[in-house]
This record gives sequence, C-alpha cells and structure tokens, in this order.
Amino acid sequence: MREELLVYEINDFSLNNDELMLNETVFHNANGYIGIRANLEEGYPNGYDTIRGSYVNGFYNISEMKQAERLYGMAEEKQTMVNVADTQSILLQLGEETFSMFQGTILESKRLLDMERGFTSRVVKWRSPKGKEAEIIIKRMTSFYQLSLFTIEYSVKALNFNGDIRFISGHIGNVLNYSNPNDPRVAGESFVHILPEKMEIENQTSYITSRTSKSGLYVCTGVTNLLSKEGANAGTCTIKKEENSMEAVIDSSIQIGETVTLTKYTVFADTIRYDDCKAGAEGEMKKALSLSLNELYDRQKAFLNSYWKNSFVRIDGDDGLSLAVNYNLYQLMQSVGKDEHCNIAAKGLSGEGYEGHYFWDTEMYILPYFILTNPDIARSLLEYRYKILDSARENAKLLGHKKGALYPWRTIMGKECSGYFPSGSAQYHINGDIAYAITSYYLATKDIDFIAEKGGEIIFETARLWMDTGYFYKGRFRINEVTGPDEYTCMVNNNYYTNASAKYNLQWAVQFYYLLIKEKKLAPIVDKIGIREEEIKEFEKAADQMYLPYDEELKINPQDDSFLEKKVWDFDHTPKENYPLLLHYHPMYLYRHQVCKQADTVLAHFIFEDFQPMDTIRNSYEYYEKITTHDSSLSACIFSIMASKLGYVDKAYDYFGDSAMLDLYNTHQNSKDGIHTANMGGNYMAIVYGFGGLRLKEKGLYFAPKLPKEWKGYEFKIIYEGSHIEVKVTKENVIFTLLKGEAKNIYVNDKPYELKDSIVLIMTEV
Ligand code: BGC
Repeated sequence: MREELLVYEINDFSLNNDELMLNETVFHNANGYIGIRANLEEGYPNGYDTIRGSYVNGFYNISEMKQAERLYGMAEEKQTMVNVADTQSILLQLGEETFSMFQGTILESKRLLDMERGFTSRVVKWRSPKGKEAEIIIKRMTSFYQLSLFTIEYSVKALNFNGDIRFISGHIGNVLNYSNPNDPRVAGESFVHILPEKMEIENQTSYITSRTSKSGLYVCTGVTNLLSKEGANAGTCTIKKEENSMEAVIDSSIQIGETVTLTKYTVFADTIRYDDCKAGAEGEMKKALSLSLNELYDRQKAFLNSYWKNSFVRIDGDDGLSLAVNYNLYQLMQSVGKDEHCNIAAKGLSGEGYEGHYFWDTEMYILPYFILTNPDIARSLLEYRYKILDSARENAKLLGHKKGALYPWRTIMGKECSGYFPSGSAQYHINGDIAYAITSYYLATKDIDFIAEKGGEIIFETARLWMDTGYFYKGRFRINEVTGPDEYTCMVNNNYYTNASAKYNLQWAVQFYYLLIKEKKLAPIVDKIGIREEEIKEFEKAADQMYLPYDEELKINPQDDSFLEKKVWDFDHTPKENYPLLLHYHPMYLYRHQVCKQADTVLAHFIFEDFQPMDTIRNSYEYYEKITTHDSSLSACIFSIMASKLGYVDKAYDYFGDSAMLDLYNTHQNSKDGIHTANMGGNYMAIVYGFGGLRLKEKGLYFAPKLPKEWKGYEFKIIYEGSHIEVKVTKENVIFTLLKGEAKNIYVNDKPYELKDSIVLIMTEV
C-alpha cells in the first residue's frame, strides 16, 4: 500500500468561519462508538459559529415533537443524538500570553488525517503578539482498539524563549446541541438534552456523570491529563470543580528547543452498554492507562492494517480520486456502530445533521460495502434491525395495519422520528430496503443461520406488511399512498421503486421459507410468528401480480401512477442559487411537478435489473436524468452506476467524481453538519458495482468491468462466501485473483469461469 494515498493534508491558514466549520467535520475522529468533531482545542472568539460536539453512537435523548395539528398516529416525540461532555478544550499559556489562531502571527498551519495510522493532527507555528515563537503539534485519536477512548497528545516546542508554560484542560458538562431554525436538516431549536449530575475527582482523574432530560440514560466521561517533558513527568496538576465543569491546570516550564507534551485521555461509558457508567468509565480509564500512548498508536495501526487489507481501493492514474475514495471508506469505518445498540447515522458521528438518525441509507448505500468487505459488521448492522423489530411491529399497528412490521423512516432506538410524514413515515420502501439488504447479505455469505435466527423473521414480517398495505385489483397487486425515495414526489399510488422492492421482499419471503424448511430450521419461526404455507402462497401470488407501472408511449417505467401527468419543472428559469429546491419552494409546489430530488426509478433499475428489459432501463435513465436535480447526496452515485451499466462511461466518470469529492469539497454546502455516509458507501458502489459491474445474484457473482479513459486501471478486493477475491482492471486486462479460500464460480459479462488461482482476461474481449 502506498502511504501517501492514505494521508490527507491541507495547509490551513484560513480563519474563515465556513471553512473552520467544514474542517471540524472533515478532520473529526470517530470509531463507531464515539465521535469528536475537530474543533480548535483553544476555542473561537466571540461571534464565530462552531458546532462543538462529542457524540456516543446510539446515545439519545427524547424531546417533544410539536405538531401544530395533532392528527392521529403522528409522531409526538423525537430522539436526538446528544452532544455529551466537551473534553477537547485545552488552553495553552506561554507566560502571560494565551495561544489563539486569531491573535499574533500564524507562521505555519497544517491539518492532517493519517488513515493508515488512524489519527489526525494539527501543526501550527505561532508567533505570539509579544514575539514568542512556538511549534504546536496536536495529535488526536479515537481508538479502534479501545472504543471508549479518545486521546489528545498536545506538544509544544519553544523555538525562541524560556519561561513558564501552563495548560488549562477543560472537562465541560454544560453543553448544548447545535440548532439552526432556518435549516430543516438540523434541529430547529436549542434544547438542554443533558445535565451533569455528579462531578468527582479520583486519582487525578475527573469524572462527570450526566443524565439526559427524558430518555433516562446516563453517560460518564473520565478525563486524565499527564504531562511529560522529553519523556519524563514534569509539572503539577490541580483539578478545580466549577459549576457543571472541571478544569485541570497543569504548570511547568520550558526552555528553548525543549518540547513539553500534555496527553489527555478521555473515556466514555453509557448506561446502554454499562450497568453502572461511572464504574464503567473507571474500568476503561484503567485499561487506557495500562498501555503507553505509543502502544495505543501501534494497536490503532494494526487495526487499520487489517482493515485496509480488505477495503483499500486503488485508482491507477488518479491519486487524488484514490485518496478521496479511501477517505470515504475510512469515514465509513469511523462511523459504523460496532454493537447491536446502534447503527450508522446519516452523518456518522461527525455532526448533528439529521440529529444522528439512522435511515434506509444504511441498507441501500452502506451495507453493500460492508457485506463485501466486512461481513461481520454487515451482520451486526442487520442485528440492530432485528433488535428494533418489535418497535416496527408497534409502528405498523399505529399506522392501522393488522399484521406485519413497518420500520420507522428515521430513528435511533426504534420509534419513528419523522415529523413530516409525507417524506418520512410514508416511505414504506424502507421495509423492502431492509429485506433487500438481508437478502444481499445472504447471497454474499450464505449465512443461513442468520436467516434462521433473525433475518427470516424480518423478511416475513415485512412481507406481511405489504400484504396488509396493498391489494389485488383487476389481477394486479397495487400499493397506494406511499412515498418512494424521491422526496420531491410524495404520497403517490404505485411508486415503481416501492412496488419493485415489495415484489423482491415477497419473492424472498417465499424463497427463504422453503430454504429454511430444507435446512430444517423453520420450526422456531413458525412457533414464534405462526407463518404458514397458505400465507406464503399469498406472498407468491402478490409478487407475481405486482403492478410495475409501464408507459407504452415513452417506453419507460413511470415513477408512479400520476407522475407523467404532471408538468415538467422549468429548469431553464430556475436560478442556480435556488438549489437545493427544498430550501426555496413549498413542498406542494414541488410535488406538482416532474422533478426528482434523487434517483428513484433509476435506483430500482440498478438493484432489480432483472425486472425490466435493457431498453426500458435505458429509456428510463435518459428520461429521469433530465429531471433529476441530485439535491440529495444519495443520487449522483446511483446515476454513475447506471451510466456505467448503460455504457455511458464518461458520464459515469463525472458522476463518480461528484460523489467522491462531496465532503472534501463541500459540494452540497452542508458538510459542516456532518459527512454524508450514504454517499460514501454509494461512492464505493460506483466503482465496484458501477465500473466493476459486480452483482450478487442467486446464480452467483457477476462482473462486467469497464474502465474510464482517464484512468490506467483500478483494483479492489471483496469477500464472497468466505473467499477473498482481488479484482484488477487495466487498459489491457481484467485479472481476478483468489487470495484466500475455496475456488468460486464467477460470471464475467454473463460468461461463466471457475476462479481457482487467477483468471486473466483481455479487456477488449470481455
Ligand atoms: C434524502 C433521503 C435520505 C436522507 C438522509 C434526504 O435528503 O432524500 O433519501 O435518507 O436525506 O440521508
């Protein structure tokens, strides 16, 4: 692996507020359990906006969701990922002067993310107003080895002075979540979610135990500060309690050329995972301090070494894009929950956009990546869905259904959190998405035990929900009043995507039923939910008769029954600054037009390609491309995949670039609120499913490789049925190598091959 492809570095002299906030996201540290935004340790002057945040995955509070007109069954409370105690804060005093980027002179300023070693760093050379020069290097890590642990190694080198040096290291309990009343994608109002209940100092460690206002959860943060001067302990540390916060004051002295280093350890423990979070934090602190910082760095590196072994994607001929793609894959590892109590939020653990909620993004955009590279993580994400299956059953009842389960559109702990149901709860396709993801996981792993223990039950319950939602009419099974993925078209009859995913869900309910009988594993599910063959026959009938709208004239699949009757949006007279449209037009105005926020039918054609002939898929792509704004970050990657499939490789390449750079270049102008994890997974798919043409089918593993003319080649690795396979595409050849495991049958452009060691195909002949 070439190291430079895993290092993202910028010179960062700008004190522009927008850029600072963007970098808080781009350089955040997370490990799936905790996430810390890259705020400046020393803070910002008054008047600067910042989202200063530390988060614990799955740790939420409940607050009232005010519905001006309370209709039956509408969500009345929401869950919010809580900003927990701030332990990033460190003030540096050199004599009587305090370090600030906004005073004195910045001689050098860099930010770096090292994805091979798993840390970020800030390197600043600063001249104080009185002329003291110091080099400050701040290295931060959220440990993959110990998920509760966040470290800051803060080193100061005196370049031209001798004197006193003081660190004031904060542990601040009175924190708020970020809010912006003008942006529907973040919380609209400020709310106190968490308050410190206990502040304790033990063995030079400060502990703050805080309680959420309504969800009844506690989190304890423990902070230890250690000072060293060229390796030796050197200084005094006094911890002071203040109202709702604590402060460690660490004093020492420094000589020219000398380096003084403060290492700040923070551990987090919450009552979702620990019975007693204070005892949990104490245990975690003990564990953290039992290793040296260098040993912790070594473990971080070892973890990432094995991560990249399966996950690294190389684009030969474009190092910038390679870096961007791997940046995205690194962020997925940083964001993904590692236990059944949590999942992967739309913004990961990098910010508060969408309040930390989990969406269909997980199943349709992110799971495909983990299924192929880290099947254990994929399984754990699906186990979370199993854990909230009872809530989904309740949700179905609330919405009037007599049977089945309906997953919430957005949630943390299982209850529906979408206030605006037309583009929230009405997106019933989430049921089909979860069923699709379970099926894909099965196709890639053949893990029938998971289907028997958890996945099958989900598939049957989601299938039941379709039967209860739709009905047979004139020989067709129809599903009315739902919303598909495209949120600019809401509450429609027979959304093509929804109907196609319901069909697939029902088909697989049937398949799994008979498979489980064959494997003698069905009985416990029958005992639990009483699924019977008569019901399975009904599923089969509905799947066979599922209505998939088709327009004879245009020879496309209309997005829904009334879509083509609407007026096409006037794109020519829409000023650039009016995008994204959702921030400038009333929803009803959008709903009256043919205009798509994101891939909808085009996405259905990607995942259910065997439902339609190629001509329909092509015509549809061309039709929808003209009316899709890609205002959602979930769109460009899908258009890239479909452009690849249709042979429009130049277009695929352009969409791919848009998707790869979305957060690093802040192209949607909201990355300050957090990364876009769905796009990151979609970006991976755009290479592997798009250019690589990979498909997981019942018959086997399919490829259809294409290469953009701008590249010399690309390569990726996948795990299929336990075998590790490397795929290398160059201008001349496509090479499949079996790295580990049993031989596999694969298909390349529908031609079967047996992959024993390696297969080399001539590119022009595949
Ligand atoms: C998209 C949804 C997505 C959500 C969270 C919205 O803008 O339209 O499809 O689930 O963002 O990423």
